[in-house]
Amino acid sequence: MEIKRVMVIGAGQMGSGIAQVCAMNGYDVILHDLKEDFVEKGISGIKKQLEKQVKKERISEADMDRFLRRIQPSVDLTNAEDVDIVIEAAVENMDVKKSVFSQLDEIAPEHTILATNTSSLPITELASVTNRPEKVIGMHFMNPVPVMKLVEVIRGLATSQEVFETVYTMAENVKKTAVEVQDFPGFVSNRILMPMINEAIFTVYEGVSSPKDVDEVMKLGMNHPMGPLTLADFIGLDTCLYIMETLHEGFGDDKYRPCPLLRKYVKAGWLGKKSGRGFYEYS
Ligand code: CAA
Ligand code: NAD
Repeated sequence: MEIKRVMVIGAGQMGSGIAQVCAMNGYDVILHDLKEDFVEKGISGIKKQLEKQVKKERISEADMDRFLRRIQPSVDLTNAEDVDIVIEAAVENMDVKKSVFSQLDEIAPEHTILATNTSSLPITELASVTNRPEKVIGMHFMNPVPVMKLVEVIRGLATSQEVFETVYTMAENVKKTAVEVQDFPGFVSNRILMPMINEAIFTVYEGVSSPKDVDEVMKLGMNHPMGPLTLADFIGLDTCLYIMETLHEGFGDDKYRPCPLLRKYVKAGWLGKKSGRGFYEYS
């Protein structure tokens, strides 16, 4: 199946990155969020990224204008009536995603694939609210999307082979490397990454070391490009907490219990870089 028109739901850090790489690789994109301000913020972030590429002489100004023209803003979900695939990148909350998917199932044409960029939530459960479970799939990009090479392509229980192949090919068309994963909590990426981040938070919570020193250990000692607490701030502490809760509930194993300090920060509205404060402060 050929994909030409894409709708991205959620113009936050992931949705805007996904819209950017799709537009840069020839797809027409509708970028959708709840409010016009949110969509505008997403598009201005994409523009800033592209301007940096122009400065570095990687793309021309004409390329930038062409890519930006391919992205149409939306605050009306009925715009899904004209797309071949929807990639949902709204907040990591099952109720929100289920509500979006059941509405999309009513609006989008029969052939439209409903993909989710969820970090951890079960694809199969999300598919169950639609009448097209064979066309529901996980397409998990990594942050920052324009830089990171991986896309996990996650098969739900009913995902068809044709849909799997179409999404796998689309990931390659946006110059990513696709890896096939089965539908288990956290998939591969966050089942491994997030317990490490949670453990780093426990070391701060228990007074073993400061956030700066925990990060230093992992950067200098393990060659990680960012320390785990900087990475947690970068991902979003709310997203980290939701992923830990999904792992905890999904496996029923206390080794995945979220650190109380993570919970406390999220309750305080300290969501990391996007809110200006997390383990570090951002101006
Ligand atoms: N958006 C777009 N491009 C970005 C960017 C951003 N937010 N941040 C950095 N870049 C680009 C820079 O422009 C630069 O590009 P060029 O090399 O083409 O000039 C390149 O990335 C390197 O940037 P810097 O030199 O400024 O900084 P760096 O060397 O520290 O790299 C980084 C930045 C790539 C983000 C690096 O720190 C890194 O790899 N960090 C770890 C990222 C990671 O682990 N991501 C996965 C998170 S988990 C996830 O995504 C899954 C989930 O479900 C939660
Ligand atoms: P974010 O908070 O930056 O953005 C989420 C956006 O979704 C916001 O703009 C919000 O207004 C919008 N939104 C919320 N409910 C909506 C709805 N019903 N309809 C339309 N838009 C809605 O979050 P993010 O970091 O971009 O994460 C988005 C998704 O991507 C989550 O499922 C997250 O788990 C996943 N993800 C995040 C990362 C990461 O590192 N942050 C990496 C991979 C996957």
